[in-house]
Amino acid sequence: MSRAGLDKQPREVAAMFDAVARRYDLTNDVLSAGQARRWRRQVARTVAARPGERVLDLAAGTGTSSVPFRDAGAYVQPVDFSLGMLRTGRKRLPSLPFCAGDALALPFADASFDAVTISFGLRNVRDTGAALAEMARVARPDGRLVVCEFSHPVWRPVRTVYVNYLMRALPKVAAAVSSDPDSYVYLAESIRAWPDQSALAALIQDHGWQRAGWQNLSGGIVALHHARRADSG
Ligand SMILES: C[S@@+](CC[C@H](N)C(=O)[O-])C[C@H]1O[C@@H](n2cnc3c(N)ncnc32)[C@H](O)[C@@H]1O
Repeated sequence: MSRAGLDKQPREVAAMFDAVARRYDLTNDVLSAGQARRWRRQVARTVAARPGERVLDLAAGTGTSSVPFRDAGAYVQPVDFSLGMLRTGRKRLPSLPFCAGDALALPFADASFDAVTISFGLRNVRDTGAALAEMARVARPDGRLVVCEFSHPVWRPVRTVYVNYLMRALPKVAAAVSSDPDSYVYLAESIRAWPDQSALAALIQDHGWQRAGWQNLSGGIVALHHARRADSG
């Protein structure tokens, strides 16, 4: 079993993703009932990468989240600390320059990216504030931040149904498709414990970013937070 705990020990988190890497993308499509593709298109629109720009895709996993930036003509740098996810990514997308690295100590110079983005990764990092500050360090002045993460449905009836899906159905569906279904119990628990939309925006503002806002997707099941690097970094 390779399920991480809510204290998000980096070794456990990396091992958990190593174990799901092989069937990660398939499981995503099944568990999100295809919504994941729609969410990714919206991330790409929000980052709005232009040809020649440098985009850091942090916690890029198998690289699926990096592809839209490459397709937009930007230089995309996928980074992840699970060697299993990176290996699967290299096989699937050999043209992407995958790089091993930890969100809390990025192997890049200050102000080296026009945009920094992280999809379904920030929730798994042990210290959310420290990761946001590290992302601000590597972003250029006025550089863009886009965080795509599971959030909290805004309409109460949807919230009730969704929490039931997370806690009861999702682990069962995962058992049918994932290479390590137990890790999907962690997924459900970590989504429930994650800050809501306004709390995450406040955290972003407190760690080197300004003009933080968000857009709810699928009624708030996912939120896209966006911000600009604050002048003081
Ligand atoms: C759910 S996957 C998301 C992958 C990809 N961004 C996507 O949208 O499909 C989360 C990824 O975050 C990575 N991760 C978690 N904590 C990390 C950290 N501290 N540094 C780098 N990567 C991390 C995991 O290894 C995993 O590949």
